[in-house]
Amino acid sequence: MTAIPLRIAVLKETAPGETRVALTPETAKKFIALGANVAIESGAGIAASIPDAAYAEAGAEVGPAAQVVTGADIVMAVQAPDPATLAAASPGAWVAATFDPFGRKDRVDCYARAGLEALAMEFMPRITRAQSMDVLSSQSNLAGYKAVLAAADAYGRAFPMMMTAAGTVQAAKVFVMGVGVAGLQAIATARRLGAQVSATDVRSATKEQISSLGAKPIFVESVAGIEGEGAGGYATEMSEEYQKAQAELVSGHIAKQDIVITTALIPGRAAPRLVSDAQIATMKPGSVIYDLAVAQGGNVEGSVADQVTEKHGVKIIGYSNTPATLPADASALYARNLFNFLSAFWDKEAGKPILDEEIGDAVRLTRGGQIVNDRLRPDPT
Ligand code: NAI
Repeated sequence: MTAIPLRIAVLKETAPGETRVALTPETAKKFIALGANVAIESGAGIAASIPDAAYAEAGAEVGPAAQVVTGADIVMAVQAPDPATLAAASPGAWVAATFDPFGRKDRVDCYARAGLEALAMEFMPRITRAQSMDVLSSQSNLAGYKAVLAAADAYGRAFPMMMTAAGTVQAAKVFVMGVGVAGLQAIATARRLGAQVSATDVRSATKEQISSLGAKPIFVESVAGIEGEGAGGYATEMSEEYQKAQAELVSGHIAKQDIVITTALIPGRAAPRLVSDAQIATMKPGSVIYDLAVAQGGNVEGSVADQVTEKHGVKIIGYSNTPATLPADASALYARNLFNFLSAFWDKEAGKPILDEEIGDAVRLTRGGQIVNDRLRPDPT
């Protein structure tokens, strides 16, 4: 008796401005090699420059949404689709996507009610064996790169120092606030463009990383930051005393900067406010700020999602989905993250992935009609 192959379905993303796709012809081929059937909605890859024909050539079924989703065992997406669109999937189907679990609890509830098993890719644990499955890293890396390019484009001057017959062009001063994955890539990109780069973070471990990329660390020394890494490598909310010391330090520094890239996030909380309107007023006209945390509330006072605003002659860029501005690469990496995740748990005999506790429990939000994730349980206080 041969088992029915597992069906993996991918729909066209529907969120405004979303250009990415969760499957590429490369990963389609790899899933098929594992024994799965792969179906994708017609046009799902267009915005990422992947025509339907490329999926068909890879062996995927290409068709309308209703056909694609029917009988699906696993639905893959960049942003979790409305569960109402998945009614024809197999009962208890898995949906591997980003869910914004803290921001969109309503959607998590809907997934529970629909009896679907929601697997939140942003909850992938920060452990060595899950690095290749980590969508936050793959997308943040691209976002850090693109933020610098977009800021350079909006800046009315050059980045590198240039000595010309007509005189010298000064190097741009770039300050990166928050040195996680996006911040490190922002530093590296700004350095490659020839800027003079400085950076800050609350985690002391980043000091050395900043120096090793040839940038200058700017750190609060009077109040203890986070030694080493916080839980899962993430930052936590800092004390009032620290925040005050940080604001003072930043005030002195920011007035001399041409470009500021902010990336600071705290999981489950609003992004910390790092740049105030008063600080922006001290910057030179023509300076540019790129707030990569705008979708989580923003690090910069006055940044607006998906808009370029101007305050005191300073441009503030607030694109909420920066990876979507690099759709082809962002999709390729995201799709590989999903393949690495599902294939790592592939059980040949069962013909499907069977998640282990460490990773399965970390990413699973809903199962059997219930919300099952520890991070989504109300605080015991
Ligand atoms: P994130 O996106 O959560 O935050 C960005 C940065 O902002 C972090 O470096 C954080 O410390 C910083 N930040 C938070 N509050 C701040 C404040 N008030 N002022 C200044 N900076 C502030 O961070 P991301 O990029 O997700 O990285 C977090 C950590 O996880 C890093 O140590 C990274 O190396 C580690 N990591 C580990 C992985 C693995 O082992 N699988 C994969 C990816 C990252």
